[in-house]
Amino acid sequence: MLASIILICILQFKIIENKESNCGCSIDRAQKDNYDRKLFYNLLQSEEGECSTVTKVEDSEIYEVTNDMVLISGREYYIGTDDIIIKNDIEGPEKIVKLDSFYVDKYEVSNRDFSHFTKLTNYKTEAETFGDSFVFALFLNNTFRDKMKDFRVLQAPWWYKIMGTDWTHPYGPDSDILDVMDHPVIHVSWNDARAYCKWRGARLPTEAEWEVACRGGQRATKYPWGDKLFPEKKHMFVYSIYIILIYCVFIWANIWQGTFPHHNSEKDGYIGTNPVHLFPQNNFGLHNMAGNVWEWTEDSWSSDNPKEKVKKGGSYLCHRSYCYRYRCSARSHNTDDSSAGNLGFRCAKSA
Ligand SMILES: *[C@@H]1O[C@H](CO)[C@@H](O)[C@H](O)[C@H]1NC(C)=O
Repeated sequence: MLASIILICILQFKIIENKESNCGCSIDRAQKDNYDRKLFYNLLQSEEGECSTVTKVEDSEIYEVTNDMVLISGREYYIGTDDIIIKNDIEGPEKIVKLDSFYVDKYEVSNRDFSHFTKLTNYKTEAETFGDSFVFALFLNNTFRDKMKDFRVLQAPWWYKIMGTDWTHPYGPDSDILDVMDHPVIHVSWNDARAYCKWRGARLPTEAEWEVACRGGQRATKYPWGDKLFPEKKHMFVYSIYIILIYCVFIWANIWQGTFPHHNSEKDGYIGTNPVHLFPQNNFGLHNMAGNVWEWTEDSWSSDNPKEKVKKGGSYLCHRSYCYRYRCSARSHNTDDSSAGNLGFRCAKSA
């Protein structure tokens, strides 16, 4: 029994390939595609007779505040890493930052939270304005996927740019969020995320704040839940078994299990997003800092291109073998108007 668990688990450790390659789990409005709005409408109309119907989110009677904030005290912290895995992302070197005390959301902002905001302010997200957003292939049924094959993104054909997709229609025009009100809001751009936080009297976390929050107060932690994987050579064997068991028996975060992009074994229970309160919290009491959805931060990727914003934490599409970015120091970026089915956020606030 034990031996077979270990064997199964060992088989899961795939060699890290393509670490340098562009993250397949990321998508951007700047990405080139062969997109033709008219064709899209024609395709939809030819079979449906009419275009999408708009599903209204039910008015929730009384809004419950579902997101608490956690205070993280100001001092010097280490961020970045010397154990660089994806060079192009500039994950290192490790450096010291001095932060003032700040609050950060315990959870990613949920659909319920966001719907309260849009109801009170009539805020329209950028995906609603553009009229489309990016949906991951597995969420489209076979017929629809086939029909929409011309709306794949050239460089990442598992992303489909689907009209009528926005935060209330996360999987295309016929989907809604009624069953996923406690999941993170997705298809929100950096600008949308900022508007929401501002409305709550908060702001987006800076990248440094986000990373400190992720590490839960420890110095060189790779993941929100723990420390370096292999402490000392002489204990390597014992630790290896221990770590393999931990890795396999406890699921720490919602990332991809299976063969990307066609098969997700759902070992963590979810193909896509999970409710914001699930999976173990880190030392600061924060949930889903890694996996589930990427999270926007306030920072720009570089000063030459201030429209590119840093996102952190990886998503349910990340896998060790090709998008090993569910680490605290890992980072990626998108333009500030981009939105996708695996990108959300949480807010922060100066103390
Ligand atoms: C497949 O998805 C499309 C678009 O969301 C929908 O209109 C259609 O009814 C779905 N078909 C099936 C068989 O579920």
